Amino acid sequence: MRIEERQQRRGERLSELARTAAGTPMGDLLRRFWQPVAIAKHLAPGTAKPIRVFSEDLTLYRSASGNPHLVGARCAHRLTVLHTGWVDGEEIRCMYHGWTYDGTGQCTLRPAERDAARPNIKIAGYPLREYGGLIFAYLGPGDPPPFDLPRKPAFEGNGFHVVRRQVWPCNWLQLVENSLDALHVSFVHARGIEGRFVTNVSQVLPELEYFETDAGIRQVATRAADNVRVSDWTFPNNNHIVVPGPQTGGPWVDAGIWNVPIDDTHTQRMNIYAMPSQGREIDDALMAEWEDHENYTPADHHDELFYEHKYPADEHSDLTNAQDYVAQVGQGAIVDRENEILGRSDAGIAFLRKIYFRELELLREGKPAKTWRPLAESVALPTQHAAGPEHQ
Ligand code: FES
Ligand SMILES: [Fe+2]
Repeated sequence: MRIEERQQRRGERLSELARTAAGTPMGDLLRRFWQPVAIAKHLAPGTAKPIRVFSEDLTLYRSASGNPHLVGARCAHRLTVLHTGWVDGEEIRCMYHGWTYDGTGQCTLRPAERDAARPNIKIAGYPLREYGGLIFAYLGPGDPPPFDLPRKPAFEGNGFHVVRRQVWPCNWLQLVENSLDALHVSFVHARGIEGRFVTNVSQVLPELEYFETDAGIRQVATRAADNVRVSDWTFPNNNHIVVPGPQTGGPWVDAGIWNVPIDDTHTQRMNIYAMPSQGREIDDALMAEWEDHENYTPADHHDELFYEHKYPADEHSDLTNAQDYVAQVGQGAIVDRENEILGRSDAGIAFLRKIYFRELELLREGKPAKTWRPLAESVALPTQHAAGPEHQ
């Protein structure tokens, strides 16, 4: 086979990992896991909103008593969008002619028709769980798996706890691959415009090691004997890292980051940031400060970042965030993997792809895929300044 042909085949194979609409192998794989789809506090009781995830349009609503529900985007009657309707108890009622649906998507009422019985009409409906300030959905077939993998003791303390959602205009896999690319920290965050990271991140290039765990991949980046970074990546699209906290010398922040496809060229980054409690007063003060950063999203500053080399003044989370954005969105809406040239430092990316291909193959053959489960013991992520931050 000619080199170009081989390269093209490789490109086609890799593009399978990027595509996530329903019916695609990767889309089907990702849907078998609980995925965060919205920020809980953005959904007020008695309201509905449209969301899009895995290229599927949906209606997210919350009953007055507080229960969230997720059903198809459109009414089955004449297909107007349901989020413009009314929440009625645990159900949602279409504003056009009043057809009503429960949280499973079952149509329960067609006011102008003569059938008193429940009509045999159903739109999509997916189970939800609220956890850590996020709403998770299970969009896969059959019964959902136990709600285990997203949970971490670090996200369940009673200290500083905030959440953030950002939409980036590129494919989800670019964001996930970056989380297994510890080398980028020495460049993206430590050269060019140097923020607070430069005091924490050594520019020394790390030696990288990757290990498959019960839950995903453990990444170890060693820059010196006292500068070993560990991150705990959870299958299929979550990373758990620690980053320096907002207070000099204070505790570090545990960050849980899920990169969830909206469609193949838009990704929502759903984040939990949590720190052990330092007393209610300090926790509250830090959370109040966070409000300045909660709504920051580099996509709002795209042209400044790309064409004016203008980065956020904040030297901490916003800068770091913007630097990552430039690197990953700069790869293109969907990176052309056919033309990439991987090196030794991309071992994590190769490792990740190998695991995805293995799991896809098992699914394709109808064989049982690996049962991913939470680690018996949480990974000892670095917490000392000397250890340097692990950053996505
Ligand atoms: S379109 Fe929804 S009730 Fe008619
Ligand atoms: Fe980064």
